[in-house]
Amino acid sequence: MGAAVDRTDVVVAGGGLIGLSVAWRAAQRGLSVTVVDESPGAGASQAAAGMLAPVTEAAYGETDLLRLCLTSLQRYPDFAAEVEAAGGRPVGLRTVGTLVVGFDEDDMRELDALHGYQRELGLAAERLTPRETRRREPSLTPRVRGGLAVDGDHSVDGRALHAGLLAAAEATGVEVLRARVRELQVTDGRATGVVLDGGRELPAGQVVLALGAHSGGLPGVPPLPVRPVKGQILRLAGAEGLLEGTVRALVRGRHVYLVPYAGDGLIIGATTEDRGFDATVTAGGVHDLLHDAIEVVPGVTELELVETLARWRPGTADNAPLLGSSGLPGLVLATGHHRNGVLLTPVTGDVVAEHLATGEVPELAAPFTVDRFVRADRLERTSP
Ligand code: GLY
Repeated sequence: MGAAVDRTDVVVAGGGLIGLSVAWRAAQRGLSVTVVDESPGAGASQAAAGMLAPVTEAAYGETDLLRLCLTSLQRYPDFAAEVEAAGGRPVGLRTVGTLVVGFDEDDMRELDALHGYQRELGLAAERLTPRETRRREPSLTPRVRGGLAVDGDHSVDGRALHAGLLAAAEATGVEVLRARVRELQVTDGRATGVVLDGGRELPAGQVVLALGAHSGGLPGVPPLPVRPVKGQILRLAGAEGLLEGTVRALVRGRHVYLVPYAGDGLIIGATTEDRGFDATVTAGGVHDLLHDAIEVVPGVTELELVETLARWRPGTADNAPLLGSSGLPGLVLATGHHRNGVLLTPVTGDVVAEHLATGEVPELAAPFTVDRFVRADRLERTSP
């Protein structure tokens, strides 16, 4: 057993966007906070394209999640400004809107179905002719069949945001320990801290689990419905002036997105694969992404391919996060954000910090406690 250090109010396991946002907000409420991560921001936060796109990603049956996403989007401008002020660096928030385009007739049918759903929910989205679509983004191929303009869906530079949040959290008194959490410490049925590789113990009043796709695998943590959903992503350079904002495209039934960032950068993403913790960047994955991106924006051919990367979204059965109580006293969840980690960073920081400080989960986050799965599981087992 290693030497114990002073007990902090909160230990956050995981220094990605979600963990840092929770830590920062908790420290602002006067709690003493330690974040533990051997390489903060090297997980999904590093791969994320940074789309803030609840309207273009709206999916049937996910209205609670949509409400949470829209709330977080609404908080983004103030959040970004606050991170920039506290962290002393820009975070690359782009508020120029998002265009969704279709390539063939079936793609357009899917796009029209999405538009119908958006209108049903009262979300702002404008259907565009091919000419109008290309007027918005002249680099699009003339073969594009039409589009949807969603002026309220934005993007942020995920890596810049992470660097800003790290600086902001440290400036607010958060201690960031570069170490690997080996296990959750549980004493008399309560989470009482974490144990690091090498045996050092970090006792804490509460532990926040923000390990993304790895959240379910930490020894001591009760079984959690979180699985890794692999995404391969590409970074290119030389794209200055190529696109004004994010372009999401349906190319013969396949989805691809192109997100400009940091002057001349362009992110192309992403595959969605259930392959466990496989970090391989495959020839097929890169081929499909580049092929579809070039179909939509032929100028991509000229760009420099500077980075390929695979990471894991923390997926859940209903694509929504796990926030608040874990069922194990002392262990608080901030995980399972699946495709929406960057978008949900501000609201997750707010609601989980409130839970840490008061024990309450704000009404907005009530649908996202883990017991929704326990209830569903019980129902399944008791129904004939
Ligand atoms: N939100 C984009 C993705 O997960 O690929």
